[in-house]
Amino acid sequence: MLRGEVEISGAKNAAVAIIPAALMVDGVCRIENMPQISDTDMLLTILSELGAKVNYINHSTIEIDCSKVRYQDAPYDLMRKIRASYYLIGAMLGRFGSAKTTMPGGCNFGVRPIDQHIKGMTALGANVEVKNGFVYADVAGGRLHGTRIYLDKVSVGATMNILIAAVMAQGRTIIENAAREPHIVDLANFLNSMGADVRGAGTDTIKINGVEKLHGGTYAIIPDQIEAGTYMVAAAATGGEVLVKNVIPRHLECISAKLRETGTIVQEYEDSILVKGASTLRKVNIKTLPYPGFPTDMQPQMGALLCLAEGTSVITEGIYDNRFKYVSELRKMGAEAHVDGRVAVIEGGAKLSGAPVQACDLRAGAAMVIAGLCANGVTEIEDIHYIERGYENFVDKLRSLGADIRLVSFEDSCSGAEILSIS
Ligand code: UD1
Repeated sequence: MLRGEVEISGAKNAAVAIIPAALMVDGVCRIENMPQISDTDMLLTILSELGAKVNYINHSTIEIDCSKVRYQDAPYDLMRKIRASYYLIGAMLGRFGSAKTTMPGGCNFGVRPIDQHIKGMTALGANVEVKNGFVYADVAGGRLHGTRIYLDKVSVGATMNILIAAVMAQGRTIIENAAREPHIVDLANFLNSMGADVRGAGTDTIKINGVEKLHGGTYAIIPDQIEAGTYMVAAAATGGEVLVKNVIPRHLECISAKLRETGTIVQEYEDSILVKGASTLRKVNIKTLPYPGFPTDMQPQMGALLCLAEGTSVITEGIYDNRFKYVSELRKMGAEAHVDGRVAVIEGGAKLSGAPVQACDLRAGAAMVIAGLCANGVTEIEDIHYIERGYENFVDKLRSLGADIRLVSFEDSCSGAEILSIS
């Protein structure tokens, strides 16, 4: 049972766009509430390798100065490791008129094309070619041109990438059918505080008037919606009581509403949320959708919780083709659940028991942790590098809430493997 208070870090999906966007800025960007996770570390390393000066002021504040960066190819081995490296295409194209990167990596939820990113960059005047796993982009004359872009699919990444590329384009860009996630608003606010002219972020039409130059400034990243939601679900699943601090309750409404349907008590305050677990959880049906719908990045955590609820729940994945790999891991712990394409049917009332399981991806890893907290016996989770991509101090934060969780290192292993052990 989790009890106590937990402080939420800055939003991963905002930070991983803001760091590449800093490449556009001629001056020092002081960024507060930066989450210390492996995805942000990786992007900061990429910027440093490109010639940026990165200074840590304290654990959550950094200064990035890209004014001396000159064009060079992005470091491929690092680019390949994370999804968000695609924002460097927009940033390098916007600043230098040229970009050569690898195709992005990240969690494997099936095919994750970047055709809408390419459509956007092409509409802005770039020649873009994807060949042998590399993306080559350049624009004649070195500067992109504003235009109207209608996205065929609501894509967070494409919206943010086009936004970054367009801030210093010549003239006005309008992105229609844009995604509306809070981190898109955060990226726009960051860019505006550095001198950009972006309006309408958070709606499906974003208007960007290109400026000649961005200047340095200070910006604080919003709290992480998904990290907060994960602790909320963990509190509910364990029947505990947790005050989740440093959050924007409005961003969590879809998660709060679903938890209330399960019988969990959720009380909202100005910048915190109190979650009190119910003695019996009720089944709910979930369909993941773009914001303000239920986030796909909270689907696995809710899947773990629903194994314990009374009755049969149905989860429909509305974003990705293959985001239920974690279900077979839950079954190893005694869950009764089956998957048919984009639908998972979870028979509740399971008595979970600890088992060796895998973190198949970042949020699947969080789901395993939640299941492990609720299971009898010891759960050992492998491949925790996925979890480290998106949760700052996960083990310490959970331990401060009373969880019996620890990181176990195998020093004799040549791979230096680590697992999470939950009792
Ligand atoms: C971002 C998030 C990820 C989250 C997802 C949906 C980051 C770094 N990652 O991923 O955590 O799960 O939003 O909220 O912010 N698509 C295309 N063509 C494209 C782009 C996307 O077909 O050019 C498809 C994708 O395959 C997917 C859907 O559109 O089925 C949504 O993807 P998108 O919103 O772009 O997700 P990401 O930006 O990759």
